[in-house]
Amino acid sequence: MPKILIVDDDKDLVEGQRIFFEGKTFEVKTALSMKDGIDAVGTYKPDIILADLMMEHYDSGFVFCKKVRDNPEMKDIPIIMQTAAPKEIGYTFDASNPKGKEWMKVHEAIEKCISSLPQEEVSVKVFQLKQEGRMLQIRVAPYVRDNETGGAIIVVSDFTEEWKNEQDQNRFVSMVAHELKSPLAAILNYINVIQTGMFDANALKIHEMLERCKIRGEALLELIRDLLYINKREAGKVEKSIEKLNLREVLFSQLEFYKVQADGRKISPTLKAAQEGPYIVKADRSDLDRVFMNLISNGIKYNRDGGVLAVELGREDGFVRIGIKDSGIGMSRDEVKNLFQESYRVRNSKTSGISGTGLGLATVQRVLNEYNGRITVQSETDKRSTFTVYLPAAEG
Ligand SMILES: Nc1ncnc2c1ncn2[C@@H]1O[C@H](COP(=O)(O)OP(=O)(O)OP(=O)(O)O)[C@@H](O)[C@H]1O
Ligand SMILES: [Mg+2]
Repeated sequence: MPKILIVDDDKDLVEGQRIFFEGKTFEVKTALSMKDGIDAVGTYKPDIILADLMMEHYDSGFVFCKKVRDNPEMKDIPIIMQTAAPKEIGYTFDASNPKGKEWMKVHEAIEKCISSLPQEEVSVKVFQLKQEGRMLQIRVAPYVRDNETGGAIIVVSDFTEEWKNEQDQNRFVSMVAHELKSPLAAILNYINVIQTGMFDANALKIHEMLERCKIRGEALLELIRDLLYINKREAGKVEKSIEKLNLREVLFSQLEFYKVQADGRKISPTLKAAQEGPYIVKADRSDLDRVFMNLISNGIKYNRDGGVLAVELGREDGFVRIGIKDSGIGMSRDEVKNLFQESYRVRNSKTSGISGTGLGLATVQRVLNEYNGRITVQSETDKRSTFTVYLPAAEG
C-alpha cells in the first residue's frame, strides 16, 4: 500500500487528513513538528509527503522541504505543501528578496487563482526563476472544485541540472561556430584580395597569401577532426590499437610537427631525458599524439615570443613522467582550478587574442584517465606553467 506522511502542527487538521486517506488505499503516518517529520521521513520512507507550509516558524515548511531535498536518500520523494495563507507563499519562497520582480509575478498569479470567480477562466501560468544558483520552474494553476474556487495549486520543480547542461551546450556551440568562422573568414578574405587584385599582383605576395590560406585551412581541418574524434569517443566508436611506444620518439615527432609554429614565435623547444634508453608505455598512438599535441600547442600558444619550451622525460614509481614547461603567461590559482573542464578557457587581456575551443585539456584528462595516467599543473601568473603527465611504464 502506498505510504503517506502528513507533517502539520495542527492536530485537528492532521487527524482530519488521516481519516480522509487512511483505509484500503493508503497507509498513513503523521508528524506534528518539522523535526518529527524529518525523523519520520528517514524511518517510515513514505511514497509521498503532505506538509504544512507554516509550522513552528513561518518558513518551517520550506526548511523541511530543503532538508528532505538535501538528503540523497530522500530527495526524490514528492512533497505537497499545503497552506491556508497563500499570500505568504511568494514571500516565503524568496525570504532574502521579498520584492523580487519575478516572485511578485508568481504572487500575483496565485492571488488571481484564489480571487477568481468559478466561471472565470484563469489560465495556468509557468515561470522560470533563478534562486541561489538554482533554476526553478513554477506552475500556478487554479483549483476548482464543485464549481467553487478552492485556491491554487503551485508546482515547483528544480531543473538546475538540465538548465546548466543546456547552457554549456549553447556556449560550446557558439564557441565552435566562432572557431570555425574566423579561419574561414580569413581564407575568403585572402581569396577576395587575390581575385580583385587590390594590390600590385606580385607572385611572391600571392604565394604568401596562399600559404596563409593553407595554414588556416589546415587548422580548420584539425579542429573539425578534433570535434569528430570527440564525438566518436563519446559514442564509444573509437577502436584502439594498443602497442608499446617509445615516448622519446612520440615527443620528438610532435615537436617536429610544431616546428613551424614554434619558429613563428621564436621558440626553440628542447627535449631532454633523465636517463638513457627508451621510455616505453602501452597505448594507442593517436591517443598519445592527442595528449602531447594539446600540451605542446598550449606551450607555444600561451608562451611569449622567444620563450622557453622544455620537454623532460623521467621515471617515478613505475610511471613515466613527462614535464612540459613553458615561460609564458601562466595562470592564477583560481584559473587552474577549472582547467580540465570541457570548453573552459581563461578569459583575460592576455588570452583575448589567442584562439582555441577549450577542449584540449579536457580531452587530455579523459585520455589519461583511460590509461590510468594523470596530469598535474604548476603555474605562476606571467611567469611559467608546467604540465606534468604520468603514464604507467611498460617493460621495454
Ligand atoms: N601552458 C599554458 N599556459 C597558460 N595558460 C594555459 C596553458 N595551457 C592552457 N592554458 C589555459 O587553459 C585554457 C584551456 O586550455 P585548452 O588546451 O583546454 O583549450 P584551448 O587551448 O583554449 O583550446 P584548444 O586546445 O581546443 O585549441 C586555455 O584557454 C588557456 O587559458
Ligand atoms: Mg589547447
